Amino acid sequence: MPIDAIYGPADFAHPARGVPLGTALRLQTAKARADALPMPSLRWNDEVARATAHLYERVRTVITPLEWPLMAPTIKAINELKALRGAVILAHNYQTPEIFHCVADIKGDSLQLAVEASRVKADTIVQCGVHFMAETSKILNPQKRVLIPDSRAGCSLASSITGRDVRLLRENFPGVPVVAYVNTSAEVKAEVDICCTSSNAVEVVESLKAPRVIFLPDQYLAKYVAAKTAVKIIAWKGACEVHERFTGDELRAYREADPTVKIIAHPECRPDVLAEADFTGSTAHMINWVRNNQSKRVVMITECSMADNVQAELPDVEMVKPCNLCPHMKRITLAKILESLLNLREEVTIDPTTAERARRSVERMVNLKNKI
Ligand code: 13P
Ligand code: SF4
Repeated sequence: MPIDAIYGPADFAHPARGVPLGTALRLQTAKARADALPMPSLRWNDEVARATAHLYERVRTVITPLEWPLMAPTIKAINELKALRGAVILAHNYQTPEIFHCVADIKGDSLQLAVEASRVKADTIVQCGVHFMAETSKILNPQKRVLIPDSRAGCSLASSITGRDVRLLRENFPGVPVVAYVNTSAEVKAEVDICCTSSNAVEVVESLKAPRVIFLPDQYLAKYVAAKTAVKIIAWKGACEVHERFTGDELRAYREADPTVKIIAHPECRPDVLAEADFTGSTAHMINWVRNNQSKRVVMITECSMADNVQAELPDVEMVKPCNLCPHMKRITLAKILESLLNLREEVTIDPTTAERARRSVERMVNLKNKI
């Protein structure tokens, strides 16, 4: 069924809009200076070529031999520093291939990263993704040091809603449970009943056994969930600035050019886009779909580094990628990861009371996953 109602910032008159980036992320400069390590040599030579040859094999279909010497010295330095710091690198599926395939220890979609973050043994986590992902790792690992190589890596969904907006929604809909997509700040997670990701949104909504649910902040994911359940959905007007750009016309043009092509799309896309897709799922579900189906030609309707990562793994599948990059994800680079490990920054901090309340919402989702 269509969504029941939709609210947005304009419906609540208050001045505070969005979560200023870096609110919960503080540069620990004094501490970083004391712990800083010297910059290693980043020269390309035979030793670097030998030490990174096995890593180049993983990306040779998407990174040219001309580009590799510019990346390999930093990759080698990051992997050595990671061991020295006792750190683990978590990378989202949208990270570029040299990060995803050559320095990451744990990779996945938002749900996989949240679950793995709660199991990590290392004392230091370097989050290669956007700031709400780093916050989720900190929420689940309050005793660990969580670093993000660039705290300005935001998200249009996370910045579309504040904790105050959630409180106002609750006042308007007393007793209606609230589900927050993980693409939200810790402050918002602290105000809701449970979190969800794009891979479990329908299950999370139905687990509440309520006739109506407030679902925020992504209006398109809300529409997707509403189409799959009898629960009435009250949505928020947020949108992903990357997925919102795709159009149904674009997809029809691909199909007209090649009727055998397979189209797979992320549920943050508009309904007219999802109507044209052969499969809709989270980033991890999309990757598994390509692995399992091995179609000749696949159009991947999501952030386009992910198509590069899949192409590197499955060179026989032709990945067609209408290239929409997430400018926030792209703030994370090899140079910044190296800097982060050298100077132990930028460290994520969250007010302990907010973190404790947010943890309940994230853990409720993680525990539900264990039951499904
Ligand atoms: P996934 O949960 O599917 O990894 O999506 C996260 C995201 O930011 C998509 O734009
Ligand atoms: Fe946020 Fe969209 Fe970027 Fe994902 S792709 S991090 S939802 S802006």
